[in-house]
Amino acid sequence: MVLKAKKTNKQNSKRSLITHSDSRSPISEQYRTIRTNIQYSAVDEDLRTIMVTSAGPGEGKSTTAANLAVVFAQQGKRVLLIDADLRKPTMHYTFHQNNHKGLTNILTKQANLKDASVETDIENLSILTSGPIPPNPAEILGSQSMDGMIEEALSEYDLVIFDTPPVLAVTDAQILANKCDGAILVVKSENTEVEASLKSKELLLNAKGKLLGVVLNQKKVKDNQYYYYYGGK
Ligand SMILES: Nc1ncnc2c1ncn2[C@@H]1O[C@H](COP(=O)(O)OP(=O)(O)OP(=O)(O)O)[C@@H](O)[C@H]1O
Ligand SMILES: [Mg+2]
Repeated sequence: MVLKAKKTNKQNSKRSLITHSDSRSPISEQYRTIRTNIQYSAVDEDLRTIMVTSAGPGEGKSTTAANLAVVFAQQGKRVLLIDADLRKPTMHYTFHQNNHKGLTNILTKQANLKDASVETDIENLSILTSGPIPPNPAEILGSQSMDGMIEEALSEYDLVIFDTPPVLAVTDAQILANKCDGAILVVKSENTEVEASLKSKELLLNAKGKLLGVVLNQKKVKDNQYYYYYGGK
């Protein structure tokens, strides 16, 4: 599988994974810093299921989830990245897969994890796309099948990372927060309202989720500041 985008449409061509295509870039270094911070956020706990969400649409959930999955895999962890955004799935675009078989097929017992997951070209990283979008996403994400799927995934992988829909829009992210060991909240710089971030945090905590931290995405940094901070080059 090749990660280079087939330039068939705009959405596909924009979705490249910087942590894979340019792992020495300052941005990739930042993803590694986030990885370290996640590991330090729960030193005494076994963090094996992590979900990524944000308050609203388009704030960088899928980008963050995918790049974090790559940097954890680069560290030697066997990682499964799951597209649990059953409202607007995008992982199949990022990894140039079709989305005929995925999470929803497992949850409706039409497939098993082995059949539906795909090994990527990135060592240690497998993905599970969303599968066909169901009429009742929250219900199937909250089902016992989902618990069984997570348990099976944990027998095969060291770490499972979930991409999810916006937490303020639908209940799916809360449902997953309840099932995961930790949650990451993505905030888009100069875009996400403080109120919305606070409300998102509250909803995740209400669902008994453990908020591991917040990722500030798309922060504008002047080139020289950026390179100065990372020691030049
Ligand atoms: N740090 C970044 N730098 C540049 N572009 C970014 C960054 N983060 C996200 N993007 C771009 O912004 C768009 C939205 O990002 P992404 O799909 O990750 O957000 P999302 O929160 O998953 O959106 P949705 O709510 O639609 O699922 C994408 O085109 C993505 O490539
Ligand atoms: Mg997304």
